[in-house]
Amino acid sequence: MTKEISGFSKLSKAEKIDWIANHYFESPEEAKALVKSYWNSDVKLQQLHDDFIENTVSNFYLPMGIAPNFNINGKTYTVPMVIEESSVVAAAAKSAKFWATKGGFKTTVLNTEKIGQVHFIFTGDKEKLQGFFQLIKPNFFYDTEPLTANMQKRGGGILDIELRDKSTDIPGYFQLHATFETKDSMGANFINSCLEQFAKTLKEEAAEYDGFSAEEKNIRIVMSILSNFVTGCVVRAEVSCKVEELTDKNIPDPHAFAEKFITAVKIAEVEPYRAVTHNKGIMNGVDAVVLATGNDFRAVEAAVHAYASKDGRYSSLSHAEVTDGIFRFWLDLPLALGTVGGLTSLHPLVKFALTVLEKPSAPELMQIVAATGLAQNFAALRSLTTTGIQEGHMKMHLNNILNQFGATDVEREMVRKHFKKHAISHAAAVNYIESLRKN
Ligand code: MEV
Repeated sequence: MTKEISGFSKLSKAEKIDWIANHYFESPEEAKALVKSYWNSDVKLQQLHDDFIENTVSNFYLPMGIAPNFNINGKTYTVPMVIEESSVVAAAAKSAKFWATKGGFKTTVLNTEKIGQVHFIFTGDKEKLQGFFQLIKPNFFYDTEPLTANMQKRGGGILDIELRDKSTDIPGYFQLHATFETKDSMGANFINSCLEQFAKTLKEEAAEYDGFSAEEKNIRIVMSILSNFVTGCVVRAEVSCKVEELTDKNIPDPHAFAEKFITAVKIAEVEPYRAVTHNKGIMNGVDAVVLATGNDFRAVEAAVHAYASKDGRYSSLSHAEVTDGIFRFWLDLPLALGTVGGLTSLHPLVKFALTVLEKPSAPELMQIVAATGLAQNFAALRSLTTTGIQEGHMKMHLNNILNQFGATDVEREMVRKHFKKHAISHAAAVNYIESLRKN
């Protein structure tokens, strides 16, 4: 059966599901039933989700969990997290509780500027281009007034526009490099609309500029798009306490713990193979809150990893030190987030998450996300440098194995009892359940 199809998007939802079920499944009826079992019984709610993207056939669930007791700048937050990895929420909650008794997380928004660029080709006299740019610069602001009026009322707008010469990289390549303040919105649509107007203004003004030759008048726009590398939209989160305060049941010697912890961070600073995993641990927390609040996690991921390489080598996003007996652990993250616009007012669970966070502004959300990332990193490093990561991880993963085997309540109880005394591994859990069933 051919799997090529034209006009798929024109089919009704039921026809799309039929096509997939008939082309890819031995039991099409079962496949259809599965896909439909994830539909919401509230038809309006389902329609809302169907309309988020094209060719929707079903919903894909991820769990939403809650990490309470985040003390951030003296305020207690209850943090909603959307993630599939079993130990992440528990680790965040544990870290949050640990630091709540030691002054909590201190966070600072360092800046909130976003960037967008019009990439274009100009073959001609660079000096003339510079003079032309200075002359028409006010027009970029004037021509975008219908787009910027509302943003300006909210205290945002276009901050500056520069002409950047990139012609040593690619012959004739120049940019309009613009900076924006988008307040509580992530601002992607606002920025892209402004940039497309800048491109239009640039092209039209050039075509009419008497100072240019016929060739120079023909500016070729390549593309106009925001940059997700938000180096001017950065938040810092940190925790600190006296070294002696770094105690719990797995930390018998706080000085030895601090030393080992700092060495683990230093390894991530100098060794990219470790840095990627170290930063992945930070993103476990970051992505989970970014997703719960309806923000663009791909944009955040792209920005954060580029930032981790900003000094020429991929490195740790977090740092740690002991100075004068004080342990300090901190990170800086570039985070372009919104708490208005986009999914924030559409997705009922995003509204729920933002309400649990007491309707934060975008800068406040940056701080919550950064604190969660730092908490996650602390939890991972604490486990790695003390008990090892598998103990906690497998404890949480045991549930998944039990579910996979459709374990009964009695079996679950016996498995839990058994693994209180024995090391958990996937194979050990499977063997034990099978042996229970044989007997
Ligand atoms: C697992 O999702 C994350 C960790 O690997 C992070 C780390 O190694 O720091 C535990």
